[in-house]
Amino acid sequence: MYSKKQFVSAVAALSMVSGVVSVTCDDPTATIRTPADATQIANCDSVEGSVLIAPEAGQRIDIGGSLTEIGGDLIAQHNGFITDFSSSSLETIGGAFELVNLTALSTLSFTSLSEVGSIRWATLTVLQEPNLGNPGITSAESVIIADTFLQRIDGINVQSLTNMDINNNARLTQFSTSIRSLSNVLNVQANGLNLTLEMPNLEWIANCTISNVTTFSAPSLATVNGSMRFDSNRFQTFTAANLTEVQDGDISFINNPELTNISFPSLERIGGGLTIANNTALESIDGFQRLERVGGAIAFRGSFTEFGLPELNDVVGGVEVVSTEEIDDACQTFEDESGNIIQGEYSCRGREADANENTGDADGSTGTGGSGSDSSGDGEGAAVALGLNINTLVSLAALGAIFTTFM
Ligand SMILES: *[C@@H]1O[C@H](CO)[C@@H](O)[C@H](O)[C@H]1NC(C)=O
Ligand SMILES: *[C@@H]1O[C@H](CO)[C@@H](O)[C@H](O)[C@H]1NC(C)=O
Ligand SMILES: *[C@@H]1O[C@H](CO)[C@@H](O)[C@H](O)[C@H]1NC(C)=O
Ligand SMILES: *[C@@H]1O[C@H](CO)[C@@H](O)[C@H](O)[C@H]1NC(C)=O
Ligand SMILES: *[C@@H]1O[C@H](CO)[C@@H](O)[C@H](O)[C@H]1NC(C)=O
Ligand SMILES: *[C@@H]1O[C@H](CO)[C@@H](O)[C@H](O)[C@H]1NC(C)=O
Ligand SMILES: *[C@@H]1O[C@H](CO)[C@@H](O)[C@H](O)[C@H]1NC(C)=O
Ligand SMILES: *[C@@H]1O[C@H](CO)[C@@H](O)[C@H](O)[C@H]1NC(C)=O
Repeated sequence: MYSKKQFVSAVAALSMVSGVVSVTCDDPTATIRTPADATQIANCDSVEGSVLIAPEAGQRIDIGGSLTEIGGDLIAQHNGFITDFSSSSLETIGGAFELVNLTALSTLSFTSLSEVGSIRWATLTVLQEPNLGNPGITSAESVIIADTFLQRIDGINVQSLTNMDINNNARLTQFSTSIRSLSNVLNVQANGLNLTLEMPNLEWIANCTISNVTTFSAPSLATVNGSMRFDSNRFQTFTAANLTEVQDGDISFINNPELTNISFPSLERIGGGLTIANNTALESIDGFQRLERVGGAIAFRGSFTEFGLPELNDVVGGVEVVSTEEIDDACQTFEDESGNIIQGEYSCRGREADANENTGDADGSTGTGGSGSDSSGDGEGAAVALGLNINTLVSLAALGAIFTTFM
């Protein structure tokens, strides 16, 4: 935020220099320092290099006019004066569209913009809603939006991108995007306390971490190539009706206190591990009716009374099931069906008061029943160790050492 005094002197300074033009369309980096510079750039058809907005350029910067393309970056940063930034003509930014630490920016309007190399918007503390027109941005490699005042993010409708990171936007309540595939990381966390995240067309995703979300939907999701992690969310149900395979990664649901139903009706294979821990409202883990193969370990820890994996026929790691409730019958059924297909350590115990206290992952890659907990429970209850090989033992020991160090 700027003080009134700073504001007045900035305006005075501007009016003195506003006639001066110091940029051309051909500058490798055109730094806009005056309103006249902005007009000059707006009158270029295209700018090959980058465009920088200097703090002294004024409160309202409009680079709309003839300008349709910036070959390099468009950057405004560390500027407490700019309040409005717009262009109705700009269609393409070849490089990064970076808006960082613009603490007075309240209007952002780029209604023709469709292609950008990447978006990085951070510390935009008063911007409520960007106006990106319709369909908005349809091509970008990566999108990072962090620490803003945005309430909605609409108009980022890229088909496929590498990374998307939406974090610490404290007012964000709605994020809908028609994105189809994400080849590296999707991270959504620490945003508004009532965030609806809708990705109706998302089919393919690599690593993904979703936290602090109240409503989540990705009904078309078919493949996950990486790990999928849901931590501290407030949604009640989770369904991935079309997801058949998680390649090379884990699925985990940890500390989601309102979750009552996890449903993966088509899922057949998980490359890594499966962890469901401390979701205290989840009474039954029965949403994996077709799951056949788990390339890592399985850990179910919670307050459930039922669980089942009827089609399971190969678990490379161990299986640990522990509940605060009585689960003897469910354990028995599971052992009858799956006892001899678990390559790692197996244990199944009910009435364990501390079942929700271990929120560590089942280890996905090394084929252990690794869980961060001590394995002292194994002598009690229905614990049975099956097919434990030397490698498993070695990695279990290594894992134990790591956990001890960190706990
Ligand atoms: C943010 O921008 C202001 C100027 O508006 C500057 O004084 C401050 O140091 C910047 N903050 C960071 C973290 O760069
Ligand atoms: C997912 O993340 C893991 C661990 O950070 C990494 O090894 C892997 O390459 C990532 N997968 C993709 C497809 O980016
Ligand atoms: C959360 O958002 C939904 C719709 O976006 C709204 O219906 C609901 O009342 C909100 N809940 C709270 C607690 O603000
Ligand atoms: C947000 O999620 C993080 C874990 O990712 C958790 O530590 C934090 O408590 C959550 N905040 C709220 C308000 O749920
Ligand atoms: C789920 O997959 C089927 C078969 O591939 C497809 O017809 C259907 O449209 C998909 N559903 C969604 C919501 O994408
Ligand atoms: C899946 O992710 C791995 C890295 O984790 C990568 O080597 C592989 O190419 C990815 N598969 C596809 C189809 O992108
Ligand atoms: C869980 O959700 C799935 C999918 O929406 C539904 O078919 C199933 O009946 C639900 N299970 C319970 C116990 O409500
Ligand atoms: C279990 O979840 C609850 C509610 O989300 C949380 O308060 C608690 O800290 C979690 N326990 C652990 C051990 O993380």
